[in-house]
Amino acid sequence: MADERILIVEDERLIRWSIRQRLEREGYQVAEAENGKSGLKHLQDSGADLVLLDYKLPDMTGLDILRQIRQTDEDIVVIMVTAYGTVETAVEAMKHGAFDYIGKPCNMDELALLVQKGLEQTALKRQVARLRAALAEQYGFDRIIGQSPAMQDLFKVMKDVAGSPSSTVFLRGESGTGKDLVARTIHYNSARAARPFVNITCTALAETLLESELFGHEKGAFTDAKMTKKGLLELADGGTAFLDEVGDMPAALQAKLLRFLEEKTFRRVGGTADIHVDVRVIAATNRDIEQAIRDKQFREDLFYRLNIIPIYLPALRQRAGDIALLTNYFIASFNREFKKNIKGLDKDAELLVESHPWPGNVRELRNAIERAVLLTRNEYLTADDFPLLKGPRPGAASSGFEIRLPATGVDMEEVERALVTQSLELARGNQTKAAKLLNLSRDQLRYRMEKFGML
Ligand SMILES: Nc1ncnc2c1ncn2[C@@H]1O[C@H](COP(=O)(O)OP(=O)(O)OP(=O)(O)O)[C@@H](O)[C@H]1O
Ligand SMILES: [Mg+2]
Repeated sequence: MADERILIVEDERLIRWSIRQRLEREGYQVAEAENGKSGLKHLQDSGADLVLLDYKLPDMTGLDILRQIRQTDEDIVVIMVTAYGTVETAVEAMKHGAFDYIGKPCNMDELALLVQKGLEQTALKRQVARLRAALAEQYGFDRIIGQSPAMQDLFKVMKDVAGSPSSTVFLRGESGTGKDLVARTIHYNSARAARPFVNITCTALAETLLESELFGHEKGAFTDAKMTKKGLLELADGGTAFLDEVGDMPAALQAKLLRFLEEKTFRRVGGTADIHVDVRVIAATNRDIEQAIRDKQFREDLFYRLNIIPIYLPALRQRAGDIALLTNYFIASFNREFKKNIKGLDKDAELLVESHPWPGNVRELRNAIERAVLLTRNEYLTADDFPLLKGPRPGAASSGFEIRLPATGVDMEEVERALVTQSLELARGNQTKAAKLLNLSRDQLRYRMEKFGML
């Protein structure tokens, strides 16, 4: 506490002196300036945690100084000291961001209390700023793992969106593909980062509750509405509202959401006033929304309003090249969390993990690695550390395994050779088993091995 620095800008020496006495007794470090110019210079050179600003100074008004302070520092707490009878100017000062004002001659107890409150606010603001910075770091682009072409496209669009002021985004993708992560990353890398990110799951609540969560309600709007309550859209003002599972939103609310997107205004439940807010909407769904539109479960006009910037998150099996990367990333992160030192996967585990279809996508992979790292006694994870992935191998048709041709093309012979090699590795050289993995007869396999000079 004792380190907090207060600057008194005041032309009357006697007042400066008495304020200083009192504040030093409270344990603060106090500096003085006798006019506006030297006050500003002191702030520039040494800074301060709080400024006591006389309203009438020889060279400029306290209001002028306040404006100049605000141009360079939005957070520093300023308390105006005014002669009695100038409440209007004090009010004006508050409008320009003064924390409070106190009349002259100062009641020293009152002053000490105001200073204490002001400093508490500074501490809070700094803590919020620190937490936001930590969040921004947690949601850096480098925390989204993937080098496949689909992911590189994704990063490009995300960066464009983050750089745009308010364009609506529609995230599409299976469960566990990273929609939540992408929404937060866009927010924390946009100009809105210092304002709130609010998350609304459109299926979590009954329709009427969801409406009041989103738009708020006036006192008395319904039996339980004992007080006026702001909705999440209002709380998100200046920031981002993430509407998760929007595809399952009840029809009546879809109409209200549409109105909000079109006009940027809404009414609280039971309210008559239009409320205007500035939020970026990011909506997400893992539903087949086109089908939902055909089934008349989702409004087509709302779809077009949401679908300004569509972003498709690829399923993990469609970017199997990223599996190894993600695996290493999660091993490293769970090593840290569980204070372990797992080095990686052994060959069998690698084949198992790479060939699993991952219907639960990155979430499923993350959970599998978490479990394996926590429970294993090995240095390298083995297939036994992934008991949930083993079991009967699904037939090729139902495995969900999908081959995607890269835009640059491939050499068919190379593909065949790689598959033959991998099947033999997986089967530990047993040709009958390897043939089975490729749905070939043993002779067909041997024919190919001969062709590739493997016999
Ligand atoms: N590319 C990625 N890199 C690193 N971690 C990822 C990636 N994608 C997803 N994750 C992680 O996987 C988990 C699931 O992701 P997330 O919750 O964003 O999925 P979702 O698409 O919102 O799923 P659902 O539709 O079920 O809500 C989270 O722990 C997330 O951090
Ligand atoms: Mg989600």
